Amino acid sequence: MNWSAISYLSSSPSSIIAPPIPCKNHIVSAQLLSVKFSLSGTTMMFKYLAVTLFLSATQAFSTVTKTDMPSYLSKVPEGPPDAILGIAEAFKSCTDERKVNVCVGAYRDSAGKPWILPSVRKAEERLVADPTVNKEYAPIDGDAKYVELALGFAYGAQADMTKVAGVQTLSGTGACRIGGHFLSKFVPKPEGLDKVPIYIPNPTWGNHIAIFNNCGMDVRRYRYYNTKTNRLDYDGLIEDLKEAPEGSVILLHACAHNPTGCDPTMEQWKDISDLIKSKKHHCFFDSAYQGFASGDAEADASALRLFVSEGHNVVLAQSFAKNFGLYGERTGTLSVVCNSPEERSAVMSQLKIIIRPMYSSPPIHGSSIVKTVLTDDELTAEYYDNCKEMAVRINSMRVKLVEVLKQVGSEHDWSHVTEQIGMFAYTGMNSDMCDELTSKYSIFLTRDGRISLAGLNDVNIEYVAKAIHDVTAGKSITSS
Ligand code: LMR
Repeated sequence: MNWSAISYLSSSPSSIIAPPIPCKNHIVSAQLLSVKFSLSGTTMMFKYLAVTLFLSATQAFSTVTKTDMPSYLSKVPEGPPDAILGIAEAFKSCTDERKVNVCVGAYRDSAGKPWILPSVRKAEERLVADPTVNKEYAPIDGDAKYVELALGFAYGAQADMTKVAGVQTLSGTGACRIGGHFLSKFVPKPEGLDKVPIYIPNPTWGNHIAIFNNCGMDVRRYRYYNTKTNRLDYDGLIEDLKEAPEGSVILLHACAHNPTGCDPTMEQWKDISDLIKSKKHHCFFDSAYQGFASGDAEADASALRLFVSEGHNVVLAQSFAKNFGLYGERTGTLSVVCNSPEERSAVMSQLKIIIRPMYSSPPIHGSSIVKTVLTDDELTAEYYDNCKEMAVRINSMRVKLVEVLKQVGSEHDWSHVTEQIGMFAYTGMNSDMCDELTSKYSIFLTRDGRISLAGLNDVNIEYVAKAIHDVTAGKSITSS
């Protein structure tokens, strides 16, 4: 009789490392034992059955108790929740029926629901029906056709792509991460510095700080917003970029600045471009809202295209999360405008070297959708309409919020909110006011006073306006 199968199962490493399904092993052991039992029919077999089940149960028990053993894990400190996504989690677990989510920058329709763009849905249906579509790995740098179309969307159909190195990325965050890594590795460090400095606006999207820190860059700030006037601090911006050591990296939001909704005018962009050139700085554009500023994706690319035409070696992080509604698909690009096809080839090789050990190759579904939309004239036209529809609805909420604030009695000057553009209203509310909105009214927003206007609709806007009036009445929404 061969007992090895029995002993193997009862002491198999999988029975030790798989505590969540200990019963599975008991069943397997018992089944094998019943086969043996029918062969011999001896009392010994009953004994063996009992012993095996006992051992198996003991192991399952000890597997659970073993996790109580002291280890390095007990020294792992609890980290703080993410400043944006942590609040989104808190919203989900809130049971207050009145709750409103104006935290994360994600589009909601007029019924407060996530919206799949009809053009995106159609592209997806075509992909599902296409028998030639498969699930093979993408190359390290992604789907070349998608990258070409995506870069055409950003730089313009006329742009000379023979000098642009571009790779597919995990949305805008992944693009910033790859771009930061590349810059940290190849931009010469200004004299006396041991890291490449990157100047990011103050304020900016909270994740920028951690991303570029993690890339080994020296994250510094330039003034961007004047909290006394609730407007762009253009003079502060110019002063700080002048003072930055020559050859620094300057991060610019391509349009619809997150969180302030304040963009420089085209004249100001031209002056910023000249200054960056004169200081031999390097510019890094983050483009997460192309199409959301004006409703026209072409118009929203003006600043980026100006910098390219001015001869900058622009680095661009591009996201399709917001403007295509592809939040969960993680679809973006990172590109570098080079001076020659030879430079392009070298940069491409280095981007691939950065990507391969990080995640091998990007996911393909989202990029296939963007590719399908942008290769079909009808779908492209429909897409531009869809994007406009989102921008128009958001803007109508912006205007209405200020109107209703006045109607409910607010005496503050909220004109900065109507002057801002894009997905957010940067209200000027301080963190105490934001906390009060959350604790008293279950209105979830980031603690810097940013409101995602897409979270507002005709049903909740009066409730939100009244609550804002309540927490701001008699208090300042500008800092002195
Ligand atoms: C936001 O700013 O809310 C979005 O960009 C979502 C995110 O990842 O933070």
